[in-house]
Amino acid sequence: MPRSGSSPGAKEAPVARVATNDRPAGRESLTITDNRTGKAYEVPIENGTIKALALRDIKVSPEDFGLMTYDPAFTNTAHCKSRITMIDGDKGILNYRGYPIEQLAEHSTYLEVAYLILNGELPDRRQQEEWVHSITHHTFLHETMKRFIEAFRYDAHPMGIMVSAVAALSTFYKEASNIFDPVGRRSQMVRLIAKMPTLAAFAYRASVGLPFVYPDNDLSYTGNFLNMLFRMAEAKYRPNPVLERALDVLFILHADHEQNCSTLAMRAVGSSHPDPYSAVAAGIAALYGPLHGGANEMVLRMLKEIRSKDCVPEYIQRVKQGQTRLMGFGHRIYKNYDPRARIIKQIADQVFEVTGRNPLLDIALELERIALQDDYFVSRKLYPNVDFYSGLIYQSMGFPVETFPVLFAIPRTSGWLAQWEEMLLDPEQKIARPRQVYAGAPRRDYIQMDERV
Ligand code: ACO
Repeated sequence: MPRSGSSPGAKEAPVARVATNDRPAGRESLTITDNRTGKAYEVPIENGTIKALALRDIKVSPEDFGLMTYDPAFTNTAHCKSRITMIDGDKGILNYRGYPIEQLAEHSTYLEVAYLILNGELPDRRQQEEWVHSITHHTFLHETMKRFIEAFRYDAHPMGIMVSAVAALSTFYKEASNIFDPVGRRSQMVRLIAKMPTLAAFAYRASVGLPFVYPDNDLSYTGNFLNMLFRMAEAKYRPNPVLERALDVLFILHADHEQNCSTLAMRAVGSSHPDPYSAVAAGIAALYGPLHGGANEMVLRMLKEIRSKDCVPEYIQRVKQGQTRLMGFGHRIYKNYDPRARIIKQIADQVFEVTGRNPLLDIALELERIALQDDYFVSRKLYPNVDFYSGLIYQSMGFPVETFPVLFAIPRTSGWLAQWEEMLLDPEQKIARPRQVYAGAPRRDYIQMDERV
């Protein structure tokens, strides 16, 4: 059974060593001269990285701890090797398991993509049928979960409910803590992917005081989600096929995005080996923030605040003065147009043909037009990201603004789970535990209360 912590990588010999004088060019290595001691060290370069631990051998004396890197927010640190998602931020490329996002969005379905992300290969027909059958037949929740969801205040944010409800699921599946059992692990993954839409729909229905709608196994993953959200008195809910497909494509676009904030949370929490429900709850909590999955909600609020196309220049001015950020713009990795935003713009046209044009679209288009010509945004390489247009589509489809981040969390569950499993089975991984540079008070003696000034 592979366990992180028993890593062959961890037992490797130190990777920095004193360099020799004869160093021919063309070697895959880096020579570092420590000007404190005059010593030179040769550090191997692998995949465009050096091992941070190699720096530990660079010391001024045997008692010295050795050098570390300082990298707040991990802006230049690869913390894992991954085979799941490839992003080229400069070129605006996104591939899942090697397949371009554009091709998956055009030809695939969310459940097929989830299978691909989790298993590394597209399913054949039989595998696809079995996979869809398993997901479809694990959508029901334990009845106690209904009472749990109903116990929240009427105005509870659905993401708050999701964080708690997903964590609570672990108490129903005690065997889920057996994370190194491959069969059991798969069962929990199926359950999580299957139950996320049900939890999300129940959270929404509770917030608007409507009775819960149980899953309908005749419908697709997204068709059933729409059913559980929006079905009223009709005997059988029939989703609009354009909206059902649009939501499915949006789910494909959100399925994974390599080492983003919520995936890091999933991997970091998972590295201490809790059950996957607890780790996914951490992922949802990270996604909740307005700088991550909460951004599409913030985009809508921003567009409403701007009110009209004519007010866009004034708003851009405020952004440039640093008073606010242009939500849905900018990305840590993409320094080019986010390829997902390009696809979403096309979906928006299809959706608006069914629902009618969202009046906020004109403000969004004007924001994009002005920002893409403005040196502030151009010089910082700030382009629309996935969240810029997705909120407009969701709103037109009838989703309340509070549910937008939930619509991100549902499809991202497959990505989180694939990343979690990859981390668990990676012999180089251990419990995540970065270092710090201590900048606080030096050692000092306790002062009695009466003696404090
Ligand atoms: N509006 C205005 N200025 C911005 C924006 C923005 N949206 N994003 C970045 N900048 C500016 C910063 O002020 C900074 O300028 P400076 O160099 O003069 O100080 C520069 O661009 C670099 O910004 P950072 O904050 O260093 O970039 P970082 O990579 O840390 O942040 C982030 C990325 C968080 C996505 C940021 O662009 C942002 O806050 N965007 C708005 C929120 C958003 O849309 N988030 C969704 C991201 S996609 C997702 O999670 C699915």
